[in-house]
Amino acid sequence: MRDAVLKLWPELAWIQSVELREQVTRTWERALELSPLTLEDLNHIPFTLLVPNCPTTFMEHKRCVVHIARKAAESMTEFMGRALPIEMDTVIAGAILADVGKLLEYEKVDGQTNESKRGELLRHPFTGVALAMECGVPDSICHIIASHAAEGDLVKRTTEAYIVHHADFMAFLPFKTLGR
Ligand SMILES: [Fe+2]
Repeated sequence: MRDAVLKLWPELAWIQSVELREQVTRTWERALELSPLTLEDLNHIPFTLLVPNCPTTFMEHKRCVVHIARKAAESMTEFMGRALPIEMDTVIAGAILADVGKLLEYEKVDGQTNESKRGELLRHPFTGVALAMECGVPDSICHIIASHAAEGDLVKRTTEAYIVHHADFMAFLPFKTLGR
């Protein structure tokens, strides 16, 4: 399982802290242990059920968000770093973990991806935090998981959480109007 997660997420290597990299990797392993989905499913299922016939896969979207978040954090540090400190490991770990709870939110029935009963009751920001806390992920990163989606609009987001939230939404909202 460890090798499969590392292959799924080459971006884990960007996390400088060995301890944090281990916690994030372990969270994905734990999610796969509990998920009705297989690792292979992640390269085929749509990244959202909110867009009918969504043409982009779960992993394409997830990895894109991590890349956007890192590049955004780099640009913000380059131009505004003196005034706005950004913890890069926190951004990367938060972006990698933001949707880990979707492994408990979705299921595949007869080749169709659906929301599971658990997902109906507990959206992925909640299950994602539960998985991450179980694996020792620091609160500053659990905060990003908790606040990355609409639920987070009620939360005072950290700088790192704003970056992941916007990276996620800029790679999601255009699909809602695609083809209209
Ligand atoms: Fe999400």
